[in-house]
Amino acid sequence: MAGNGAPIGVFDSGLGGLTTVRELRRLLPGEDIVYFGDTGRVPYGTRGVETIVEYAKQDIAFLLSQNVKYVIAACGTVSSTLPESITDRLPVPYLGVVPSAARAAAAATRTGRIGVIGTPATIHSRSYEKALRALAPQAQITATPCPLFVPLVENGYFGRDNQVTRLVAQDYLKEVKAAGVDTLILGCTHYPLIAPILGDLMGPDVTLIDPGREAARTARTWLEEQGLLRDGQSGEAHYFVSDSTDSFRQLAGWFLGEYAGGEVRRIRVD
Ligand code: SIN
Repeated sequence: MAGNGAPIGVFDSGLGGLTTVRELRRLLPGEDIVYFGDTGRVPYGTRGVETIVEYAKQDIAFLLSQNVKYVIAACGTVSSTLPESITDRLPVPYLGVVPSAARAAAAATRTGRIGVIGTPATIHSRSYEKALRALAPQAQITATPCPLFVPLVENGYFGRDNQVTRLVAQDYLKEVKAAGVDTLILGCTHYPLIAPILGDLMGPDVTLIDPGREAARTARTWLEEQGLLRDGQSGEAHYFVSDSTDSFRQLAGWFLGEYAGGEVRRIRVD
């Protein structure tokens, strides 16, 4: 198994997983991170399970080739569809975003009414519902697929004043609003980028759960417990994408905020 000095591997279908990287950089400044964004094949969430699993296996194989000590699937769709028969057999520990987001939602809700928004594959898998049921059997869960959010975010339509995304969100959020949820899981790591719009529409009394952030917290706890943390403040991030590095660089800054920077390289994983 890779030792403390090895990087943490993070992957996503595109840019969304960078919300996890940002949180990891904040919480664990000593860690090196290898990120793979499958920007050439995004979105995953409107594809069939077999295709998603095939892509995820290729993404993980690339991270393992970089000698990572931990694999984080910072992608709601992959976390919802990749079976344990695969993740349990990896040579390093694996973390998906679903369990920690479900735990945070179960802890945050006051009324037991929880909403989940995600890609069609995530919602269809019922992954969040299953995880929530195990934690809060009485919870009333309302789950809605939001297929247009990922393309909107990947194309830069995430500013708070973006009227296109706001209009789409108004339509998608109708059901969770009607259900009176007090907690909403943003079940895809792209969605925190449009959290200001979602927050405006849901209102101040609704807690938004960011799965990437919750996964980063879980990763820190686990690495601490296993004695696998790398000390210091000088961790580096290395980014790999399967499409143009220019468009990635342009948008990555929005996701990473003050933690932007690091080399970006284009690779093939198929
Ligand atoms: C997608 O590729 O459709 C979105 C990834 C996610 O579910 O986080």
